[in-house]
Amino acid sequence: MPVERKKRIAMLASGRGSNFQAVIDAVAAGDIPAVCTGLVTDNPGAYAIERARAAGIPVTVVDYARFPTRAAYEEALLAAMRACRADLFVLAGYMRILGPAIVHEFSGRMMNIHPALLPAFAGLHAQRQAIEYGVKVAGCTVHLVDEGTDTGPIVVQRCVPVLPDDDESTLADRILIEEHRALPLAVKLFCEDRLEVSERRVRVR
Ligand code: GAR
Repeated sequence: MPVERKKRIAMLASGRGSNFQAVIDAVAAGDIPAVCTGLVTDNPGAYAIERARAAGIPVTVVDYARFPTRAAYEEALLAAMRACRADLFVLAGYMRILGPAIVHEFSGRMMNIHPALLPAFAGLHAQRQAIEYGVKVAGCTVHLVDEGTDTGPIVVQRCVPVLPDDDESTLADRILIEEHRALPLAVKLFCEDRLEVSERRVRVR
């Protein structure tokens, strides 16, 4: 029998990092059989950095503003990600589109959380898009990352009602509560080798 080992996970975040925190809390609680090997951020002011330091997780800042071209940024980002030697990369509020080199290198082992029920409302300001469209149900999606924007195979979705007096902010707060359940669950399923991907479909064993 092969010796089971904990998965190595690394996270990318651009800002507040509450989803990052939800995953590191689930790891610390023993719910996810993993070690978190690093946080990579494009934003030197990201609050996620404080969270990582508090949890003893190494941080690499690849400051987008310091690179002359997008290609140079992506090259540095790829190097930082490789250095994490992770089995799984989790985009937890990482707010940039990843280029094809990174997407291909980590294909099948990179997840993103998006604050909408995909395929509705991909891209930026998903909660605002939902309010403006007038939907009655909204939610969040954790999906594997492919070359498109928020188009990869869906791992977990959770929904919330949209209430008559909601604005972007109240809806975002309600969705965020579900994000903090959905993302740790998806990471756990990956780390337990329970995800079977067949074209667009992800089956949970
Ligand atoms: C979350 O709502 C996440 O779903 C969203 O950014 C927020 C980050 O919050 N991500 C995207 O919109 C990606 N397209 P957090 O930093 O507190 O986790």
